[in-house]
Amino acid sequence: MSKLSVNHLLGIKDLSEADIQLIFETADNFKAIINRPIKKVPSLRDITVANLFFENSTRTRISFELAQKRLSADIINFSSSSSSVTKGETLIDTVKNILSMKVDMVVMRHPSPGACVFLSKHIDAAILNAGDGTHEHPTQALLDAYSIRETYGDVAGKKVLIVGDILHSRVALSNILCLNKLGAEVMVCGPTTLIPKHIEQLGVKVEHQLEKALQWCDVANMLRIQMERQDDKYFPSLREYSLQYGLTMDLIKKLDKPITIMHPGPINRGVEITSEVADSDLSIILDQVENGVAIRMACMFLLANNITKN
Ligand code: CP
Repeated sequence: MSKLSVNHLLGIKDLSEADIQLIFETADNFKAIINRPIKKVPSLRDITVANLFFENSTRTRISFELAQKRLSADIINFSSSSSSVTKGETLIDTVKNILSMKVDMVVMRHPSPGACVFLSKHIDAAILNAGDGTHEHPTQALLDAYSIRETYGDVAGKKVLIVGDILHSRVALSNILCLNKLGAEVMVCGPTTLIPKHIEQLGVKVEHQLEKALQWCDVANMLRIQMERQDDKYFPSLREYSLQYGLTMDLIKKLDKPITIMHPGPINRGVEITSEVADSDLSIILDQVENGVAIRMACMFLLANNITKN
């Protein structure tokens, strides 16, 4: 059986194209299983997973937990707001205490970029990054690319536009790395203040006018403005941002072709995307959420195959 080249899922940066294709093929099998009347398989029956969330999440957290339940894993859920972290306990001490209860795998979301890499150097369990600050969100990028593959049959050669707060977005960085590895063309669009300098060095095009960018693309992935990560003012007001970079049906009707609309969530309706677009037939936003479960099942199943039990 094919194996992943990594023992942790810390970022798309570490995955080869073959790893990504293996995750997709494994997810195809799991997607078929979770659409059956009996959705549960015993694949992770001897594996205990700790879900450590030091930052809020709806989709990723529920999706990982559901994926673990479908695979018959034992689960421990930890949330920093209700833990001894509030009493000053360090990340390493928190995780070592949890691991002393014989945990095999850790799914972690943390506000600090690099927190998962740091953890992987200090503990033996397999680590899955569920989003680390402004750094990476690998399972989001995998489910996004998988959803493009499902829509078009292949990711290679597709023109994918990422719009919005590229500067603060872990989703943008992981998507750019993943789409490049799979042979897609990537363009980013947003105000100059929210596009990192020298981003072209990652192999992406830059366009500041949304209408021109939409004319170029097959797929538009609309990102939320990450107010919680912004210390400075990057644009005059949300209303002004929305007027220049919000995706409306009027803009889509001006195009001479259909495009596919994506969003990683959570959506700020009326800011980066109108409800009319988000809920339209062009949108695959809820397919992305559905695919997230199969992708996360595949990632955990493949990483569990690399664990050697004593
Ligand atoms: N897409 C995403 O990461 O959503 P959550 O923050 O709700 O997990």
